Amino acid sequence: LLRQLIVCDEVDSTNAQLLTRLERDDGHGVAMLAERQTAGRGRRGRSWISPFSAGINLSIGWQFSGGVQLLEGLSLAVGVALARALEEFGVPDVRLKWPNDVWCRGRKLAGVLLELSGDLTDRCGVVVGIGLNVGLRGDSAAAIDQPWIDLHSVRPGIDRNRLAAAMLNRLLPLLRSYTEPGPERGFSAYRDAWLALDQFAGRPVRLQSASREWCGTAAGVDSSGALILDMDGERKLFHGGEVSLRED
Ligand code: BTN
Repeated sequence: LLRQLIVCDEVDSTNAQLLTRLERDDGHGVAMLAERQTAGRGRRGRSWISPFSAGINLSIGWQFSGGVQLLEGLSLAVGVALARALEEFGVPDVRLKWPNDVWCRGRKLAGVLLELSGDLTDRCGVVVGIGLNVGLRGDSAAAIDQPWIDLHSVRPGIDRNRLAAAMLNRLLPLLRSYTEPGPERGFSAYRDAWLALDQFAGRPVRLQSASREWCGTAAGVDSSGALILDMDGERKLFHGGEVSLRED
């Protein structure tokens, strides 16, 4: 499944590089790891701080036919695969925060950014980008605007290369099963696993979505990966937004 593995010292963004390759029809099955990104991208237009050798910055390019709807819930399934890879290395207390953060001990350990290319109706490309904090220090750590944690503080001594390989070994088959016909197709095969790792299950949360704010109790996700909020007995589904715990 892996056609090429590119390891670089420094790039702007591994996601940007693989999007360019997909546009040239040369990105399928290509994975890129970078020690440092000068313009690492996060969700919702944020930047992803990636100083030299402080994390795993990984992107995978994947091309498929059948339309973008095949990717429904993929970012959540990617979270499940990452959680499994981390558990394989003995990382404790791994949880998932909707839609696609990996948390550990109440703070963010890794983030996922999916970016699309192609006409989206039939032939599509997707770049799955993963940023995992391994050992953050100093000024760059201080610049992160959300509660974070790194691998060194929960499980020191993990070999980054082995962990990156374990992530690839899980993510490539996941991309294939998502985009090729078969029993494992789509999010339903991953939903129970996601629910078992849900960081906010049953907790009071606030969802910021399209300049509105909604409050309710987190009640898991549906078979498409949409967030379910219980609001005074009424259930509402959300397909996008930012969730935080409500302390009030
Ligand atoms: C998030 O906001 O939580 C998603 C962060 C994704 C960061 C990764 S690092 C590798 C890849 N290249 C990028 O520019 N972004 C993703």
